[in-house]
Amino acid sequence: PAERLWWKHPLDRVEGTWIAIAFVWCMVMFFMMIYWHAYGKQNLSTETYKTTPEKFSAKAQAVVDKYTVRTETDQKVPVVAPPPGSDVYLVARLWSWWPILELEKDKTYKLHLTAMDYNHGFSLQPQNINIQVVPGYEHVIKVTPNQSGTFSIVCNEYCGINHHSMIGRIYVK
Ligand code: CUA
Repeated sequence: PAERLWWKHPLDRVEGTWIAIAFVWCMVMFFMMIYWHAYGKQNLSTETYKTTPEKFSAKAQAVVDKYTVRTETDQKVPVVAPPPGSDVYLVARLWSWWPILELEKDKTYKLHLTAMDYNHGFSLQPQNINIQVVPGYEHVIKVTPNQSGTFSIVCNEYCGINHHSMIGRIYVK
């Protein structure tokens, strides 16, 4: 009979309470998100453009050809030291970051990121920077390193069997 259909069932007090709690919690989460974005400096403002692996690799390769200073023996990856103010490129793929960047302290660069194959995560240790790197998209961030040292890039998006070994490097001199 019609009265037994679930949408005709009267709302129980307990059900009503839980719906209200869930709704309030949704609102809390929503405003936390807004607050973090606006005041928490949790999200970097990145510009994002469409690209292809071929187009991006060509640009990254050009910078590597021009500004490679040495090849790092442990990772067998070129170390690139582009001039301050220039565009620097970082390619994420299974399971590496290419190339290694050597930047100067207190100088501003435009960092371009993309992924060649799957989603990867750009997390700069120990800094509070975390960006999702999506294939087909070029993410551009202005960076001004204010601390010298060696910084590790950790992939923060599970990308397969060697995800844990996907560690890149940025030197700041
Ligand atoms: Cu790349 Cu995890």
